[in-house]
Amino acid sequence: MIPNSILVTNGKGGVGKTSLVANVAGLAAASGWRTLAIDTDPQGNLARDLGVLEAADDGTNLHEAILGRTSLAPITSVRDRLDLAPGGPALDGLTSEIHTIMARGQYLTALTLLETALTPITGDYDLIIIDSPPGERALQTLAARAAHHLVIPTAPDDCSIDGLGAVFGRFQHLRTEGGNPELNMLGVALTLTVTQATAVQRRVRHTLSELLDDRVEVFASTVRFAQAAAVACRRDGRLAHEYEQVALNAEPRYATTGPVEAYSRAATGLASDYQNLTNEILTAHTNHQLRRPA
Ligand SMILES: Nc1ncnc2c1ncn2[C@@H]1O[C@H](COP(=O)(O)OP(=O)(O)O)[C@@H](O)[C@H]1O
Ligand SMILES: [Mg+2]
Repeated sequence: MIPNSILVTNGKGGVGKTSLVANVAGLAAASGWRTLAIDTDPQGNLARDLGVLEAADDGTNLHEAILGRTSLAPITSVRDRLDLAPGGPALDGLTSEIHTIMARGQYLTALTLLETALTPITGDYDLIIIDSPPGERALQTLAARAAHHLVIPTAPDDCSIDGLGAVFGRFQHLRTEGGNPELNMLGVALTLTVTQATAVQRRVRHTLSELLDDRVEVFASTVRFAQAAAVACRRDGRLAHEYEQVALNAEPRYATTGPVEAYSRAATGLASDYQNLTNEILTAHTNHQLRRPA
């Protein structure tokens, strides 16, 4: 288990995991944390969101490092203090390679592959944040073995007993199957919210209290649904606060047109959502480290 690591996972696609990882990583780095973002998804969207797709290697280095054939060599200075181990299609075959290693009876070796690849460089970072694929259970299990904390992004559609039940069932499974009893649920982050955030939060808390004995934090800050801003961020490889700056700078030139005003308002809203959520996540992470016995 890597103490400074946070795994962002849900088991489902399209809930805003990758956008969350990109923005939390960028904001943590901007506020002084030496940060490493790792993309364990064969889709490899994190490099795109961080605007370094051309420097990325389709996940080849990560794949080879996980299999112990080379050392992990992240792309450095993606932003100040931010490095990235990109994912991509090179990770496609990893699931079957993991299964092969397990089938040889080296179950523990297989399980700790990502943790082992990360160990030599963990001291270089204050925060390691891991993005995960929607399917690819073997990869998720490796990530859950390496991680200390979990953040679960959840979209309002999945705030039902079924949706959250599946996510938390998976969490218990990762803790036991992944052999990482220290895996700590840092909290649920509500993403893509359109209705009043407090009402959604209340509903999620209620559902969670019916499902679980443990109290699980639902972060007060949510990420609003802001499609145009989210699409533009991904297209341009900008984080929400960077896009906000572009939008604000563009505004005076077109100040008389309505859509631009909406564009910059959405950008500001999304940027402040990510900033507030990042503050909560980093505070929860820090508090947990402080509470840990020496
Ligand atoms: N705040 C948001 N509002 C609207 N759409 C968003 C938002 N964040 C992300 N999206 C869009 O939702 C889709 C999934 O986002 P992504 O971060 O890739 O989720 P995941 O990693 O869980 O699959 C993308 O097309 C993205 O542009
Ligand atoms: Mg993703």
